[in-house]
Amino acid sequence: MGLRGCLLGLLALFVAGKCSYSPEPDQRWTLPPGWVSLGRVDPEEELSLTFALRQQNVKRLSELVQAVSDPGSPRYVAGLHRFPPTSSLRQRPEPQVAGTVGLHLGVTPSVIRERYNLTAQDVGSGTTNNSQACAQFLEQYFHDSDLAEFMRLFGSNFAHQASVARVVGKQGRGRAGIEASLDVQYLMSAGANISTWVYSSPGRHEAQEPFLQWLLLLSNESALPQVHTVSYGDDEDSLSSAYIQRVNVEFMKAAARGLTLLFASGDSGAGCWSVSGRHQFRPSFPASSPYVTTVGGTSFQNPFRVTNEIVDYISGGGFSNVFPRPSYQEEAVTQFLNSSPHLPPQSYFNSSGRAYPDVAALSDGYWVVSNRVPIPWVSGTSASTPVFGGLLSLINEHRLLSGRPPLGFLNPRLYQQHGAGLFDVTHGCHESCLNEEVEGQGFCSGPGWDPVTGWGTPNFPALLKALLNP
Ligand SMILES: *[C@@H]1O[C@H](CO)[C@@H](O)[C@H](O)[C@H]1NC(C)=O
Ligand SMILES: *[C@@H]1O[C@H](CO)[C@@H](O)[C@H](O)[C@H]1NC(C)=O
Ligand SMILES: *[C@@H]1O[C@H](CO)[C@@H](O)[C@H](O)[C@H]1NC(C)=O
Ligand SMILES: *[C@@H]1O[C@H](CO)[C@@H](O)[C@H](O)[C@H]1NC(C)=O
Ligand SMILES: *[C@@H]1O[C@H](CO)[C@@H](O)[C@H](O)[C@H]1NC(C)=O
Repeated sequence: MGLRGCLLGLLALFVAGKCSYSPEPDQRWTLPPGWVSLGRVDPEEELSLTFALRQQNVKRLSELVQAVSDPGSPRYVAGLHRFPPTSSLRQRPEPQVAGTVGLHLGVTPSVIRERYNLTAQDVGSGTTNNSQACAQFLEQYFHDSDLAEFMRLFGSNFAHQASVARVVGKQGRGRAGIEASLDVQYLMSAGANISTWVYSSPGRHEAQEPFLQWLLLLSNESALPQVHTVSYGDDEDSLSSAYIQRVNVEFMKAAARGLTLLFASGDSGAGCWSVSGRHQFRPSFPASSPYVTTVGGTSFQNPFRVTNEIVDYISGGGFSNVFPRPSYQEEAVTQFLNSSPHLPPQSYFNSSGRAYPDVAALSDGYWVVSNRVPIPWVSGTSASTPVFGGLLSLINEHRLLSGRPPLGFLNPRLYQQHGAGLFDVTHGCHESCLNEEVEGQGFCSGPGWDPVTGWGTPNFPALLKALLNP
């Protein structure tokens, strides 16, 4: 995290031929905390330069996205209908309400599947071309052997795929990373038995902006997974506005193509930083883009039982300082601002900005297998994002089986339907600045949408019903 700002700075330095830190014009002149200058780059060091051209007709693209993502618009199916595959829909039994709920020692696929009311039938059928993907950056690699061990330990009660179907980009041969292991293992447990791809963009060696690199891989392919989850992000203020806008145009293109992009909302609550001596909340990007669906985090009320969910205090959320509030969330955000009894002081956030997250899922206390070792209590919105993505893939499976297009960009529909099919998380607040004015508290969840858990967490049978038609 935070890598790009520095590398961009280094590139600027290299081009200028001077050995001083010289960032882009809209960047701070001091090194961000946590970074040290290591002096002049070795002349033998290879650097790749990216020259990005300003994109044209962005306004028309934005109108197109609006049309193809609005279920009320005649353009929502966007193109030619295919004949449905010859397999018939499965009969879904009523989900069982557990009479006695046992203790669990952390979140595993069984716990996820129980909480979100998935049955053994809720898996990919293998008869569609449905697929899903997660994107990895910063030298995070997964190992198929970890996936096998994970499924041996935790995957006995649902059908699943034994390995990742395809790796796009370069996976290095290093040790497995916890982030990559987590993403692969939970995407493939929630979106069980659905073909899964991993996009690998090792950031450090190529000295480039990994998000753009990954997005260009997507733009360059015509057949690709319908759902993509990304558990990476940066402070919005640490990136140049030209870079943010350029990446955002790629998000619009993905939305126009009918792809669903999910991003983790971040793990620092509302965040905090100091601008000319005054504290403010600190939004995160790409979480703050109006063209992606952002996933926040929850905990069980009783951490050892499958109970109702409350706010996980780390759940990233807030208001963008770059993107204005998109029309699809106008009503929900106004409602929140007018009714929340615990609103932080106005000077801490930009109430006119795009507010996030849009949805949430459990983010606390996961089991992950990495380098053959089972690791307990892995937490963060990095966990909730692949879980939510996997469930959307299961819904796409039903849509494809009945001849409908995949869900595509979800937000306009999500807000139009007031979060139908989601469990509304109404208890708890997330963290923020540790000062007297706000005492560590950011926003608080409440009935309906809020900038902590969005519309809430998936109740699969209800969500399927809400998102199957049209
Ligand atoms: C899981 O997918 C495979 C194809 O990858 C398919 O043959 C199998 O029937 C599927 N399992 C279930 C329970 O649908
Ligand atoms: C785009 O796809 C073509 C054909 O598959 C390939 O040759 C080319 O290297 C790809 N470009 C990028 C940037 O991935
Ligand atoms: C699945 O099929 C649709 C329609 O033919 C196509 O647009 C999409 O790219 C395919 N997806 C993959 C991953 O092959
Ligand atoms: C508040 O957000 C808007 C975009 O909605 C932006 O134009 C403005 O600069 C932001 N204000 C601050 C102080 O960041
Ligand atoms: C799952 O179903 C049970 C029983 O209907 C319900 O109490 C629970 O809230 C549902 N889970 C979610 C996440 O909504």
